[in-house]
Amino acid sequence: MLFRVLFILVVVQALSASPPAPQNVHVDNWLLTWTPAAEEGDTTYTVEYSSFDSFVWKNVTSCVHKSSNSCNVTSTKAEDEHGCVRLRVQAERHGLTSTPVEVCSRHGDSCTPYFSLMPGPGSLTVHLSRNHSLARDYADHAKHRVYYGKEGESLLYAKYEDALASVTIPELQEGQRYCVQVQNIYFGKCVGLPTCPQCVLIPESKKDSKPTVILAVGLMMVLVLLIPVIAYFLICKPERIKEWLRPPYELPEDFLEPFPDHHLAISSSSPTEECWNVITSISPQELST
Ligand SMILES: *[C@@H]1O[C@H](CO)[C@@H](O)[C@H](O)[C@H]1NC(C)=O
Ligand SMILES: *[C@@H]1O[C@H](CO)[C@@H](O)[C@H](O)[C@H]1NC(C)=O
Ligand SMILES: *[C@@H]1O[C@H](CO)[C@@H](O)[C@H](O)[C@H]1NC(C)=O
Repeated sequence: MLFRVLFILVVVQALSASPPAPQNVHVDNWLLTWTPAAEEGDTTYTVEYSSFDSFVWKNVTSCVHKSSNSCNVTSTKAEDEHGCVRLRVQAERHGLTSTPVEVCSRHGDSCTPYFSLMPGPGSLTVHLSRNHSLARDYADHAKHRVYYGKEGESLLYAKYEDALASVTIPELQEGQRYCVQVQNIYFGKCVGLPTCPQCVLIPESKKDSKPTVILAVGLMMVLVLLIPVIAYFLICKPERIKEWLRPPYELPEDFLEPFPDHHLAISSSSPTEECWNVITSISPQELST
């Protein structure tokens, strides 16, 4: 009894839930295709359009309650002289609808911008072509909205830059893939289909890291060679260092004349190549003889 009640509840829950939104929705030469989100036999799809000067969404008459996963939307192009329509698709099942998904265009068209991407270290340049009819007719009132974000993020209506011509987006994370979508705007209002996302890898900047590494390795090698040499002279040849540090001074000829014995003692303790202390070598016995 309890199991049957639970089963009915689950079925009712499944029937009353809104269907999942279609995925991978895009237009290629005015043929709109999408991937059904679930293998549901009774899910249908409806395409809506919004023209250049209108804020309302209307049904594309040939694409209402479609059970297939494509629809020819060529007829909507005639709704505006520049072909500036926006399109969206939603799934419906048992009178419930999914969230609508905005349609993007795989290629530039009469109202979809042509663009190419040029990644640089930490930045991305979006080259835009102003050869579409909207730019010709409306000049600087028609701009481009460049949406960008990391791969996998939802791009539309997130971060964007408005640009008349090509634009460079700075301060991007190096080694990360970024995606770009571009849409025409007219007096700040989105018009026409946005392009589908294009993604590129932002390269790492090499110009900084390489010389630093070379400098560090060079410094290490110099230190490794220099430390034993300095240590050798400090421990074994302190007299050499004293010699180098002594200011040049000539003794007068007769300086040691009255002290011949002393003179002998000094000459007998001439520095040798041995590693020893010169001072301790002068013993009291030697001085007394
Ligand atoms: C568009 O089609 C849907 C589904 O058939 C319908 O419910 C809706 O009323 C239609 N909208 C217009 C404006 O005709
Ligand atoms: C879409 O329909 C138009 C006519 O309405 C036709 O010329 C075109 O070939 C069709 N496109 C496809 C891909 O079937
Ligand atoms: C606009 O420029 C793109 C490339 O920059 C080119 O592929 C396209 O054919 C051009 N379109 C027109 C209408 O000139």
